[in-house]
Amino acid sequence: MAKTSNRQILLAARPNGMAKLSDFELVEKRIPSPKDGEVLFRNTLVSVDPYQRNLMGNGSSELPPIDVGTPMSGPTVAIVEESRNPAFAVGDHVQTWSGWQEHAVSDGSDLRKLDPNVAPISTALSVLGHTGLTAWVGMTKFMNPKPGGTLVVTAAAGAVGSLAAQIGKQRGLRVVGIAGGPDKAAYLKVELGLDATVDYKADDFEEQLSRALPNGIDAFYDNVGDYMFEAVMNAFNERAQIVIGGTIAGYSDTTMPKRSDHLPRLLNLFLYRFLQVQGFSVTNHLDCYPDFLAEVAPWVADGKVKYSEEFVDGFEKIPSTFFRLFDGSHRGKLIVRLGDAHDQ
Ligand SMILES: NC(=O)c1ccc[n+]([C@@H]2O[C@H](COP(=O)([O-])OP(=O)(O)OC[C@H]3O[C@@H](n4cnc5c(N)ncnc54)[C@H](OP(=O)(O)O)[C@@H]3O)[C@@H](O)[C@H]2O)c1
Repeated sequence: MAKTSNRQILLAARPNGMAKLSDFELVEKRIPSPKDGEVLFRNTLVSVDPYQRNLMGNGSSELPPIDVGTPMSGPTVAIVEESRNPAFAVGDHVQTWSGWQEHAVSDGSDLRKLDPNVAPISTALSVLGHTGLTAWVGMTKFMNPKPGGTLVVTAAAGAVGSLAAQIGKQRGLRVVGIAGGPDKAAYLKVELGLDATVDYKADDFEEQLSRALPNGIDAFYDNVGDYMFEAVMNAFNERAQIVIGGTIAGYSDTTMPKRSDHLPRLLNLFLYRFLQVQGFSVTNHLDCYPDFLAEVAPWVADGKVKYSEEFVDGFEKIPSTFFRLFDGSHRGKLIVRLGDAHDQ
């Protein structure tokens, strides 16, 4: 008999600090029916992303949170199961923004068709998806350091950071990656070919950092913020280009940090080193997909850029997999796999 129930993971409560399992609720609803012009799809791969902590509310973000009782939103890869929209056929693979649920309907306007012959479809959530696009936008639209200059990337072994660092290499920069633990440092050096790595969890973090930066920092792609920004800021060279892509170290803070002792120093750096600082949200740059794919997809196809994905099986594992973004126990892109192997 055809399946009629649709499992969803709802926001059950706004977290206080780090999110926990009781902040979510797994419910079963009826699978929706597509109206004229719509498609019904089944999610096969679900992305977990740090900004979803911001969507839960009670954090330090300025993003409006989702309502308690609604499914967590976010990117997925899906298969079309029923189509009343001529642009989509049953069996098409699509990238969606339908979040933590098994089935959803769409009028197609937020769907991106995927060709499994061009690249594994999981890459639509990783190196060729929103995380890759984020790295490319930050590195391309908001900085253009001269070849030979030093780029520093934080959370460099993560989904966004690992591509930002490799784009830096493709642009002829000397790239320093900061990440947690010796295994990640080795991965960045040996597999991704970065010029130097810094393990911020090591006791000699500051010594490692100063050894890695003999000529200061010309470009900084930050995914972490907070103490990490404080640790590197004195090394900024004149006219250093700084992109704030994320501040994951602070996403679970229930109040904006009160520490202001570094603010005067930071303002002096802005003034006397003529710093250029830019934050951005990738959602304002989705029109860059074609240019991003035109540059990055060939690098991925011919191995110039490497990527790593970790799959966790099981719809009910989505929340616990999401928590791992905050403890650093993964490398590259974390993806939850639903359904059968033949879906992928
Ligand atoms: N601006 C945008 O539009 C946009 C879009 C997508 C993502 N982002 C941001 O980009 C950043 C990376 O996202 P991602 O999806 O690629 O995640 P990710 O890097 O794959 O995973 C997060 C990583 O951050 C590091 N981390 C977590 N808490 C930390 C802490 N307190 N101190 C230092 N490092 C910490 C961990 O790596 P270690 O093992 O190295 O600690 C962890 O593996 C996040 O800040 C995210 O919000 C921004």
